[in-house]
Amino acid sequence: MTDMKKISDMKPDEIKEEVRKAYTQVADLDVSCGCEPDIKRSSSCCGESSSRKVTRIDLAQALGYDTHGMPISTTESFAGCGNPVALASLKEGEIVLDLGSGAGLDMFVASSKVGTTGRVIGVDMTPAMINKAKKNAEELGIENVEFRYGDIEDLPLDDSSVDVVISNCVINLAPDKSKVFHEAFRVLRAGGRMMVSDIVLSRPLSKEIQDEVVTYTGCIGGAILDDEYLQHMKDVGFVDVKIAGKAGSSMYGAYSAYVYGRKPDF
Ligand SMILES: C[S@@+](CC[C@H](N)C(=O)[O-])C[C@H]1O[C@@H](n2cnc3c(N)ncnc32)[C@H](O)[C@@H]1O
Repeated sequence: MTDMKKISDMKPDEIKEEVRKAYTQVADLDVSCGCEPDIKRSSSCCGESSSRKVTRIDLAQALGYDTHGMPISTTESFAGCGNPVALASLKEGEIVLDLGSGAGLDMFVASSKVGTTGRVIGVDMTPAMINKAKKNAEELGIENVEFRYGDIEDLPLDDSSVDVVISNCVINLAPDKSKVFHEAFRVLRAGGRMMVSDIVLSRPLSKEIQDEVVTYTGCIGGAILDDEYLQHMKDVGFVDVKIAGKAGSSMYGAYSAYVYGRKPDF
């Protein structure tokens, strides 16, 4: 039966519950949400059906991840739309925060870059993803990672406590993007940076598309215009804000952007 719920009729918490449901299915490999990404449209984290389905592992490899030696459970629930660690210039000893860390792939890649003197913290609101990421870390024997259950609109972290914020295809899913950027800015130390990949729009979506639950949970319906995204970041205080690259394009004028911003040194 068709899901008749409309995003515009839902409260933010109801939208988050739909997102949590969709990503519990991604964690549990229940494909009924139609979440297989497509390489040609490699910008959809939980995309709708398309001409050429590929596995999530194919997608990660196409985005430049080295998956050799990674247990399959690390990549099988990958739902990113870029490879933000590749552009984040992480250094030994840095503390990294991953917003919406999913099954942990970006955290594990980041953990090897920051080394044993650094640390990677992942925040996610889907218990099935947090549990899967914890198991993956155990299997990989990675110890400099920490998983926190929480909402990226209200981060469970202290002020000025991290050097770098990364995120992969998550902020588009947040009903209040301004709160997410405000929180990212709050937890960054002065001079800290943010490098995320996310879906943004080159033109507005129709109201019908914005209202579809499956399109929202598939990382397109909640996406905002690229200029608006950058403006939200500037409004909370980020400087040097820019789109640093593109990782793929999708339907309805949506594309996957690498977005950079820096918290000024005070
Ligand atoms: C598209 S998946 C991306 C997961 C991971 N970054 C990756 O690249 O595989 C989105 C993830 O963000 C989480 N998420 C979505 N909205 C969130 C929110 N408001 N707070 C915390 N986590 C959220 C979901 O639970 C899911 O694990």
